[in-house]
Amino acid sequence: MLACTATVPQGSSIHSQLAEDVRRGLSARPRSLPPKWFYDTRGSELFDQICELPEYYLTRAERAILERDAAAIVQESGAHELLEIGSGFARKTGLLLQQMRSPRYLPFDISTEALEASARSLRAVVPSLIIDPIVGDFEHDVARVPRSTAPRLWAFLGSTVGNLDEQQAPAVLGAFARRMAPGDTFLLGVDLVKDVPTLERAYDDAAGVTALFNKNVLAVINRQLDADFDLDRFEHRARYDVPLARIEMHLEARGAQRVRIRALDLTVDFDDRERILTEISRKFTRETTEHTLRAAGLRVRRWFSGEGFALVLSELAS
Ligand code: SAH
Ligand code: AVI
Repeated sequence: MLACTATVPQGSSIHSQLAEDVRRGLSARPRSLPPKWFYDTRGSELFDQICELPEYYLTRAERAILERDAAAIVQESGAHELLEIGSGFARKTGLLLQQMRSPRYLPFDISTEALEASARSLRAVVPSLIIDPIVGDFEHDVARVPRSTAPRLWAFLGSTVGNLDEQQAPAVLGAFARRMAPGDTFLLGVDLVKDVPTLERAYDDAAGVTALFNKNVLAVINRQLDADFDLDRFEHRARYDVPLARIEMHLEARGAQRVRIRALDLTVDFDDRERILTEISRKFTRETTEHTLRAAGLRVRRWFSGEGFALVLSELAS
């Protein structure tokens, strides 16, 4: 079992990565923070609440595809193992695992809390399940993934690939593809381009849960790096950039302010209304999905479409 820690231990590689990302992202202009740091215990819980919001259609759309097509996906893959990248609470994963005979599940996530919780809930759904969790950063720690012992389905669900830019996405997918064995398959969940109001509502819900999720990254920095961000002096912003086909989430300073990050010995002065880019969430077409997969050394085998969302089963291109 994993240790359940709400705080990244000082001196761990994940803690030093956070320090480096915060120093780099907040020293530069425009300011930015990588989205991976949303997901402490509270951030993972807030994301779980987002998935239930009426405006956040993504989870329901992907679940509906899995309810309809999980048997076909698993049959086509021939897999007995499921490696899930950015598994989180793995709320939809049981639909795939239930279609496998004697499955082994390897969830890979930066959040130990999410890995713990998903193991508990999946054991209740698939009692014979063998679970080998991997704690790590999927941008750096692909080498921690053990080689396949049986045909393996690699899954990257929820359109988390959209949180990676045009360079990061093929780099991350390509690193996983290079660890695939010839008979393995890769299942990618992608949110599709759609009308702007639907997209912007999904990232700026009426109940304000996404705003809390966005601000949580400041709470993580306060706790982990002894900083003094005042969360009430930043506002949540989410807008869709049509040419770039992506939602951009920012935190906007309410008034000029000075923030101290003591663990980094860093002082950051924000102008009134200055923004921190905290997340991009890219939206895909068939062409951009195929382009991303091709750049990672993968080719599409089968496309499973749903309500503005798709699951794409692919294989090694050579
Ligand atoms: N796959 C789930 C959860 C998506 S939320 C779903 O479809 O609902 C994104 C998940 O990816 C979170 O659990 C977060 O902790 C994880 N994550 C984000 N960036 C990561 C990174 N760089 N390395 C590992 N896990 C990451
Ligand atoms: C995890 N990821 C795919 C979510 C998304 O839709 O980009 C994170 C999220 N951000 C705001 N709401 C949800």
